[in-house]
Amino acid sequence: MRGDSFSPINFVLGFFSRDISIDLGTANTIVLVRGQGIVINEPSVVAIDRNNKKILAIGGEAKEMVGRTPANIVAVRPLKDGVISDFTVTERMLHYFIRKVHERVPLAIPRPRVVVGLPSGVTEVEKRAVHDACISAGAREAYLIEEPLAAAIGVGLPVADSVGSMVIDIGGGTSEMAVFSLGGVVVSTSIRVAGDEMDDSLVQYARQKYNLLIGERTAERAKIEIGSAYPLEEEKTMVLRGRNLITGLPQEVEISSVEVREAISGPVEAISAAMKQTLDATPPELISDIMEKGIALAGGGALLRGLAERLSEDARMQAYVANDPMTCVVRGAGKVLEDLDGLARFLITPQRTPYPWQR
Ligand SMILES: Nc1ncnc2c1ncn2[C@@H]1O[C@H](COP(=O)(O)OP(=O)(O)OP(=O)(O)O)[C@@H](O)[C@H]1O
Ligand SMILES: [Mg+2]
Repeated sequence: MRGDSFSPINFVLGFFSRDISIDLGTANTIVLVRGQGIVINEPSVVAIDRNNKKILAIGGEAKEMVGRTPANIVAVRPLKDGVISDFTVTERMLHYFIRKVHERVPLAIPRPRVVVGLPSGVTEVEKRAVHDACISAGAREAYLIEEPLAAAIGVGLPVADSVGSMVIDIGGGTSEMAVFSLGGVVVSTSIRVAGDEMDDSLVQYARQKYNLLIGERTAERAKIEIGSAYPLEEEKTMVLRGRNLITGLPQEVEISSVEVREAISGPVEAISAAMKQTLDATPPELISDIMEKGIALAGGGALLRGLAERLSEDARMQAYVANDPMTCVVRGAGKVLEDLDGLARFLITPQRTPYPWQR
């Protein structure tokens, strides 16, 4: 058993338990159980009572509370912006999801092996915290993998071959892009601009143009329903509901897809600029491989209408949306788990350094 000393107990438990892979995303957490498929796909949101710090809800139920909570309840996203902003809450959330797997999957003997896909910006201490959270939630062994690599493996790109390939994973908090060859990352760029930033830009836009205050969730809905990164064949409209900032009264405004495109153009531009910067730093031989195969787009942000067209135009080569882009990371992590012997070099083992408070 790779790197571990052989233990008969783990051998027996491993025989019975089902391995699981987790995409610990800033927007959504997805859990895949080997042989079962995806069993959990929920927002990475935790509702907390401010007074006694008690956790009231996790996942979908907690997201429902965003922007609707009384003053004493806060709905937090512990991984917002691609870093673990709240350690303990992340740990509790991970714990909760791992436990939930056991409720949903009968016969899952409680000592699975776990692989977690993480934003590449997380620090050593955070990696170790995630690793330890998996172990304390009952994992027999826990491994970590960087999101863009897991996404590329999930898309089915030949990362271990000598040909170059490229993936752009646009999530909620981060857009991560990387060029791979011979099992390694040749060039990579990570920016903290992705889906959330588009929602924020739309909130700002409605405020500035219409004096209309809308919530984050309304903005996200508008982005998903009529948002785009490239002119649409048929432009659309929808009604935004919010509060007028001057009168303080409820107000409805009809907004067009042209306006939403303008509103989110800043973040789209930033993603395109990061892509061009990554391509600029890529050796010419690999560029030629990528031109032949195209750039794969993964993550929920890849579903934005016209993004592939827009990035194709800017890169002067084809960019295409991967199959089922939101689950690429968890499926890639799952593939690594199925072939730990062959693919173990893609995993990160957290350093056994003490936590700052233990030093
Ligand atoms: N149809 C759609 N059009 C545009 N954006 C979408 C669509 N569907 C989902 N999104 C956006 O995708 C983002 C979530 O994507 P995803 O689940 O891949 O993020 P994540 O993996 O949790 O985040 P990260 O990779 O940053 O850690 C959200 O910002 C969401 O609004
Ligand atoms: Mg992601």
